[in-house]
Amino acid sequence: MKRSLFMSLIIAALAIAMALPLYAAGKAAPAGDIPVQGPEGMKTTKPVVKFSHKQHTADKCVDCHHKKAGNNDNAKCNTKGCHDNGTAKTGANSFYAAFHSNNPRSCVGCHKAKKATNPKAPTACNQCHV
Ligand code: HEC
Ligand code: HEC
Ligand code: HEC
Repeated sequence: MKRSLFMSLIIAALAIAMALPLYAAGKAAPAGDIPVQGPEGMKTTKPVVKFSHKQHTADKCVDCHHKKAGNNDNAKCNTKGCHDNGTAKTGANSFYAAFHSNNPRSCVGCHKAKKATNPKAPTACNQCHV
């Protein structure tokens, strides 16, 4: 009786130990290009940008997925409560600012910062909006 309880505890501990790394790793970065969609109902004026993880393997996941540490799901940028404002051009909830502000986590912000050392990081509108 005691022995089987002990075994169950061992098995439970093993199951948790094996599940943890899976949880910590989260979803892998998709291999293909991802069209970055605005909040629902947002009017768009430019060709939708297709983001490629393959072009960004030098960056850490959390450089962009900056809520990942506390929330392991690599949520979409337009998630409610995140960059869900489709009209504002500035501010933390602005969808536009998430990609164009000078914050080093935004596409343009990081590319501007890296430009000096890496000319391959594009900052012209039509290099992203193709
Ligand atoms: C480094 C990449 C990058 C560059 C450079 C860039 N954008 Fe964007 N832009 C994005 C991303 C990503 C989005 C969000 C996804 C989308 O709407 O395509 C976006 C969204 C937008 C939007 C809101 C959506 C829409 O279609 O109306 C506008 C407006 C916009 N960009 C204008 C510009 C203009 C003007 C420039 C040049 C001054 C520019 N962008 C340069 C990446 C970029
Ligand atoms: C340079 C910025 C950047 C880096 C670095 C990055 N990602 Fe992403 N990732 C994005 C963008 C942008 C999207 C598209 C988000 C959207 O559609 O709103 C995305 C989407 C995803 C998605 C799909 C989310 C969904 O619900 O569709 C997953 C999963 C993901 N990334 C995982 C990762 C992992 C794992 C890493 C590190 C190995 C990583 N990403 C590194 C910018 C980045
Ligand atoms: C943390 C920094 C960082 C962020 C954030 C970032 N990028 Fe980049 N991006 C880079 C660097 C560095 C390069 C140059 C890669 C290379 O050396 O080939 C690059 C290259 C690119 C290229 C050109 C690739 C090529 O070889 O032609 C595109 C397009 C691009 N990024 C789009 C985006 C978009 C769209 C976003 C936002 C959703 C984004 N990037 C966010 C760092 C970043």
